[in-house]
Amino acid sequence: MAGNTYGTLFKLTTFGESHGKAIGGIIDGCPSGLEIDLQFVQSELDRRKPGQSKIVTQRKEPDTVDFLSGIFEGKTTGTPIGFEIVNTNQKSKDYAHIKDTFRPSHADYTYDQKYGNRDYRGGGRSSARETASRVVAGAIAKQMLGDMKVTAYVSAVGDLVSEISYQELDFGCIEQNDVRCADSAFAKACEEKIKAIRKEGDTIGGVISCVIQNVPLGLGEPVFDKLHAELGKAMLSINAVKGFEYGSGFAGAQMKGSAHNDLFNEDGSTQSNQSGGVQGGISNGMDIYFKVAFKPVATVMQKQTALQKDGTLSEMQGKGRHDPCVVPRAVPIVEAMAALVMADFVLRDKSVRL
Ligand SMILES: Cc1cc2nc3c(=O)[nH]c(=O)nc-3n(C[C@H](O)[C@H](O)[C@H](O)COP(=O)(O)O)c2cc1C
Repeated sequence: MAGNTYGTLFKLTTFGESHGKAIGGIIDGCPSGLEIDLQFVQSELDRRKPGQSKIVTQRKEPDTVDFLSGIFEGKTTGTPIGFEIVNTNQKSKDYAHIKDTFRPSHADYTYDQKYGNRDYRGGGRSSARETASRVVAGAIAKQMLGDMKVTAYVSAVGDLVSEISYQELDFGCIEQNDVRCADSAFAKACEEKIKAIRKEGDTIGGVISCVIQNVPLGLGEPVFDKLHAELGKAMLSINAVKGFEYGSGFAGAQMKGSAHNDLFNEDGSTQSNQSGGVQGGISNGMDIYFKVAFKPVATVMQKQTALQKDGTLSEMQGKGRHDPCVVPRAVPIVEAMAALVMADFVLRDKSVRL
């Protein structure tokens, strides 16, 4: 299986399956001398872990990260940073019913047809458990970003959509509610919605908005590796992501240029920010903001027709411990992938001019 590595200079390779011994990763290219707050890394992982509230999967996995190399006396050494998270609460029998069954809209069929085998326990490598390793690496990358601040929050659950712009929201409230919205009244409505959907044995999608503040001018390589293109790739590589929109996005397509243009101030900043902080693939010093759309995940606690390995169709009943809506747990994953992109470009930018 190719493609387990992300990044050009700040590189993360992840390994492991959801019901194997452990998952983990190697961060290659992290400069030496970076002070690492290991408690911060663990706290980021705790924001992603299952069982943290009533509106996420009730699997109880402690998800403790253990660093194996690359950090000495609290600082990076410049050597590969290896880490693992041991899998401790795997109930493989929960998945016995799908051994010869391809769940609709999951990765079972494509994996099986492509590789000629499939680890059906918890989805194997296709499980979003892999994203725990991204959160670890993202927490290291965040510590490399200096003043740059990456903040993500839930801005929609199903048809409940918050139209409030990020400048008017209270980022301080994101970790104060189980949904991770930046507005407590909206969070309450989203929580009720997720609970109702779970009761129906169904799942629901949602949107995560992300803002990157204090971005220096000049990050991004302007042809194939445009900053927004890399952010798009990073976000679309997260399980269950179906859409990415940055800056004015699709709404911009309905505007006139005269209204869409971000007029300059004398210092080079702009009066508006339809460009989402990127022009010509290069950061312009304004905030970067984007949205990521997550589908309602495939495993519903209802009967649905599924394809069997022998080519027949039959009814299957979803079971096990699944997320009714993934966006509350995906907030730290979006932040982690954004931090990896930015850390990579910070390093790449150091080779631009003598
Ligand atoms: C944080 C997170 C948790 C997820 N939990 C579940 C889950 O409990 N059940 C499920 O069927 N899919 C879950 N998914 C989605 C699957 O991993 C994903 O749909 C599957 O790998 C197929 O890939 P695709 O939807 O991107 O095509 C989760 C995704 C994320 C990001």
